[in-house]
Amino acid sequence: MEQYRLVPRISAEEVEKQVSDLASRINRDYEGKSLVVVGVLNGACIFLSDLVRRLSVPVEIDFVRLSSYGKGAETSGKIKITKDVELPIEGRHVLIIEDIVDTGTTLVWFLDYLQQRQPESVKICALVDKLERREIEVPLDYVGIRVDKGFLVGYGLDFAEKHRNLPGIHEVEFMK
Ligand code: IMP
Ligand code: MG
Repeated sequence: MEQYRLVPRISAEEVEKQVSDLASRINRDYEGKSLVVVGVLNGACIFLSDLVRRLSVPVEIDFVRLSSYGKGAETSGKIKITKDVELPIEGRHVLIIEDIVDTGTTLVWFLDYLQQRQPESVKICALVDKLERREIEVPLDYVGIRVDKGFLVGYGLDFAEKHRNLPGIHEVEFMK
């Protein structure tokens, strides 16, 4: 088992403030419209739960599960759907909710997949935009927190399925 420790990066209070600001922007932008929010499992579960409770526009909620990462911190590069979106999205305004964007591969693939179902619009809301390893440009419409690098856990983000339940965001520091 790899040895590591967790270093606090973004407090629960700061996360809450960012989620609240994102919700205000979304409420303004979608005024008079209704939304289908699609959370990317498992990471976006906590972010989505907090975000939707601050939305005042009518919302329907669905989830998708995409497998791209293995058990650790390295990407496998391959993406497949293991749980698809079940709500009809043709002609609807769709907002994808993602925990963190790293290389960008997952979201670019999923965006293209959703577009084929002819929604009225698709936008992306990501809690964390991690810049250093971006390989492909992703049109991010709403971003809560920008970080340069580091492997983060907490507030839905995991390392080998652990630490999703932490209320704030921490960085995994591997011991040499
Ligand atoms: P991408 O396709 O490289 O952008 O990978 C995005 C996915 O990788 C995210 O939805 C996360 O599930 C996972 N991921 C990337 N970076 C981190 C991180 O720092 N902590 C936890 N999960 C991460
Ligand atoms: Mg994810």
